[in-house]
Amino acid sequence: MTTTHAPEPAIRVQGIEKSFKELQVLRGVDFDVARGSIFALLGSNGAGKTTLVRILSTLLKADAGTATVHGFDVAAKAGDVRESISLTGQFAAVDEVLTGRENLVLVAKLRHLKNPGAIADELLARFSLTDAGGRRSATYSGGMRRRLDIAMSLIGNPPVIFLDEPTTGLDPQARIEVWQTVKQLAQGGTTVLLTTQYLDEAEQLADRIAILHKGTIIQNGTLAELKQLLPAATVEYVEKQPTLEEVFLTLVGETGETGETGAAADAQPARKEF
Ligand SMILES: Nc1ncnc2c1ncn2[C@@H]1O[C@H](COP(=O)(O)OP(=O)(O)OP(=O)(O)O)[C@@H](O)[C@H]1O
Ligand SMILES: [Mg+2]
Repeated sequence: MTTTHAPEPAIRVQGIEKSFKELQVLRGVDFDVARGSIFALLGSNGAGKTTLVRILSTLLKADAGTATVHGFDVAAKAGDVRESISLTGQFAAVDEVLTGRENLVLVAKLRHLKNPGAIADELLARFSLTDAGGRRSATYSGGMRRRLDIAMSLIGNPPVIFLDEPTTGLDPQARIEVWQTVKQLAQGGTTVLLTTQYLDEAEQLADRIAILHKGTIIQNGTLAELKQLLPAATVEYVEKQPTLEEVFLTLVGETGETGETGAAADAQPARKEF
């Protein structure tokens, strides 16, 4: 995973606060995200992850603080921010009446791109959805719908993408497919900010991990830096039992829906909830 350290970060968050009536959700959130990197915002249910993503994607106004995305202030330059980002929400935003291909063509047309059909076909192929492209997306599995949702958000090649819990509710294979997609995006220079409740997701994907807790970022670092916060590892002899997820992936991994070989080998599938 390459991280380019351009002088100006792709995302800069400074002192962001947000309350809903008496509920203080964000109490001064600060962090930077380097261009072309993957940044994971980790936090339990209700920590304020979606609230922060909505502020950064201009859907919600902060009470205090500033944030810039791709160099544009989210409050003063909301239009420029919107042209620089895509947002894949916590709940899939595909139109179920349309086929997968029609969904993609629709977004390409809304973005005034040439050759919407060709763009749709290229994305269907990239997300292993070519065979399903002509089917109504109402018939898709959760993983297929998620992949379509992410594919839709890539149309127009936005430099910054927000993924709010991209793999919640997916089975292990579908999660690995989404992870591979996200890694490829970052390798291509896209900046990715994702939220997750899954520690293994952050471990697998993120160049930096920030933990949002009680309204502030209580830790922000690389995986190695976060691990150093705890005492050095001690050597213990334990009989290692395979996890159910390892068993599942070994049995099912190579014959998954999209037949992607090698996917299971990449996985470190011990799934811990935050
Ligand atoms: N529009 C709103 N009006 C009132 N309260 C809200 C609103 N949006 C969010 N909240 C509250 O703010 C808190 C943070 O919500 P948020 O959706 O940002 O959390 P989250 O970290 O994304 O959680 P999850 O992991 O469950 O998605 C929650 O207590 C939620 O009920
Ligand atoms: Mg959320």
